[in-house]
Amino acid sequence: MQTTDSLTIIRPDDWHVHFRDGDMLDAVVPYTARQFGRAIVMPNLTPPVTTIEAATSYRERIMAAVPEGVSFNPLMTAYLTDSAKSDDLTIGYADGIFAAAKLYPANATTNSAMGVSDLSNVFGVLESMQDSGMPLLIHGEVTDTEVDIFDREAVFIDTILEPLIRKFPELRIVLEHVTTSQAVDFVSERHETAPGKIGATITAHHLMINRTDIFRGGIRPHLYCLPIAKREKHRLALRKAAISGAGPFFLGTDTAPHGVSAKQSACGCAGVFSAPVAIQAYTQVFDEENALDRLEDFASRNGPKFYGLPKNNKTLTLTRSETIMPEKISVQGGDDILPFLTEEGVIWNMDL
Ligand code: NCD
Ligand code: ZN
Repeated sequence: MQTTDSLTIIRPDDWHVHFRDGDMLDAVVPYTARQFGRAIVMPNLTPPVTTIEAATSYRERIMAAVPEGVSFNPLMTAYLTDSAKSDDLTIGYADGIFAAAKLYPANATTNSAMGVSDLSNVFGVLESMQDSGMPLLIHGEVTDTEVDIFDREAVFIDTILEPLIRKFPELRIVLEHVTTSQAVDFVSERHETAPGKIGATITAHHLMINRTDIFRGGIRPHLYCLPIAKREKHRLALRKAAISGAGPFFLGTDTAPHGVSAKQSACGCAGVFSAPVAIQAYTQVFDEENALDRLEDFASRNGPKFYGLPKNNKTLTLTRSETIMPEKISVQGGDDILPFLTEEGVIWNMDL
């Protein structure tokens, strides 16, 4: 149902979240769980989630943090290292413990030091993933410090992703948190020639900010994330892709909480914490683009279709009214977290 002031959609899913662990996990899980039916949970803990046992107990800790009466299904991922074993992954996938495996090029982003240092180290693993249909989720940035930070995604597509797809043409891939028009074009073209083999998540913040916003009136560490926001023309290309409702593009917030002192430091961490306002922010973007009728495709249909899962059977209603923004989220015994859009606010609200 859609009027200008109210919108009911199939309950959405978030195909890319960071929950962390311990007190931070307890503080952030409820925000995602009350909006989304499922979430793909990133494995970049310290130490990373590499085994079936680690994923099973991490999932239990997440479930323990879900508020009573809220139904939420965290989908776990395996962190690929140079020494990843095909059997662990494909058995975990076949048993429904792993929904996918995540490829972090070593040192590309937060907690990625144990990532893959050379793709040829995991060719055997990728081969079995290709055979079993297990999706590979990719942080698509090169790590060569000589490459300009704003070019790292585009260079990754040309030098790593294209050859990877040539070598493993049947491998199912999600290019995570795309930030460039090159990524949008690449994914759209690949989808044309090999439907169902590629997907891409788009974050709310990359639809809302460009690289200039990170420096508006001074440096804004809470808008720093990886991949970093690019020029305005890229933001516009991402918006066009998201609101098209086209199959390969789906919702993935990349909500990535860090305590205030880790963000506001001489060497601040990358990550935007958007969970408290995620679906509201996406709705605002679709509204601004007069595309509210396509929000459901992007948020609730395209993701499950790619992952071969049913759509959620509940619905979620949003109304046009100011969301009362939390100024900060307190973490037991730790640092506060500042959420995305605390200052700006959002004009859509989620009915609870
Ligand atoms: C993420 C994190 O903090 O774990 N940070 C980010 O800027 N997105 C890691 C990631 O997804 O790159
Ligand atoms: Zn991420």
